[in-house]
Amino acid sequence: MSLDGKIALAGGRRARLSGPADLERVQRIRAHSDAILVGRGTVEKDDPSLRVHWELLGPEGEEIRRSRGAGWAPWRICLDTRGGIPASSRILDGSAPTAIITTRANSRRYPPHVRVASLPGPQVDLPEALRWLRKELGVRRLLVEGGSAVIASVLRSRTCDLFTVFVASRLIGGSRSPSLLAGPDSRTLDESVPLTFRGAQPLDDGCLLTYLPGE
Ligand SMILES: NC(=O)c1ccc[n+]([C@@H]2O[C@H](COP(=O)([O-])OP(=O)(O)OC[C@H]3O[C@@H](n4cnc5c(N)ncnc54)[C@H](OP(=O)(O)O)[C@@H]3O)[C@@H](O)[C@H]2O)c1
Repeated sequence: MSLDGKIALAGGRRARLSGPADLERVQRIRAHSDAILVGRGTVEKDDPSLRVHWELLGPEGEEIRRSRGAGWAPWRICLDTRGGIPASSRILDGSAPTAIITTRANSRRYPPHVRVASLPGPQVDLPEALRWLRKELGVRRLLVEGGSAVIASVLRSRTCDLFTVFVASRLIGGSRSPSLLAGPDSRTLDESVPLTFRGAQPLDDGCLLTYLPGE
């Protein structure tokens, strides 16, 4: 995110805020994760491939790849309540295992190679989704990359055990850029999300912050 807490440009247009060391850090986490999860908004705005860019990890990447087995890739997961992601989305291209977590009210048909979880409720219930990922896909280590609404759900439901954020030395400003946390307003401090500071480390032109959720 930028120093003023924005994770994209006005209207949600993608902003490359990471430098080379942070990009490599994220690829390392992807390579060690069983799955990478984003929300419908991120797929619509960024159209990410959610693949591991092994070339950024050099010999370390080769070693992880060998230990994971030929052709291995982390699952790509999208929360898509009403079937709103574009049919042309890169995560639907069949190039890596992919799952959509949606609700029973969504009757959209996804490509046959995509695993689909249809959960009860008006929106995808995050703890329920995590249970499905564990039980059906064997996901034990999950990387949640965004965007604002999904990060809010994860932090508010206390379903993450480590929270890291790279803060770039840049201010985006304005009022039409998404910030790190969407979701419900905090009308009092009691309704805000407490975190426990675990460390800060200079990285690229900015700083990597690490927190545990809760006080
Ligand atoms: N800087 C970064 O590192 C970074 C990383 C990722 C994204 N981004 C930015 O984030 C922005 C997108 O954020 P966003 O908040 O609009 O979208 P988002 O968090 O990616 O997706 C939110 C959508 O996911 C669906 N959803 C289903 N179940 C959910 C649940 N339990 N909790 C939350 N959402 C759930 C909902 O849409 P439906 O009801 O339609 O299913 C919801 O509107 C983009 O501008 C992107 O560029 C930045």
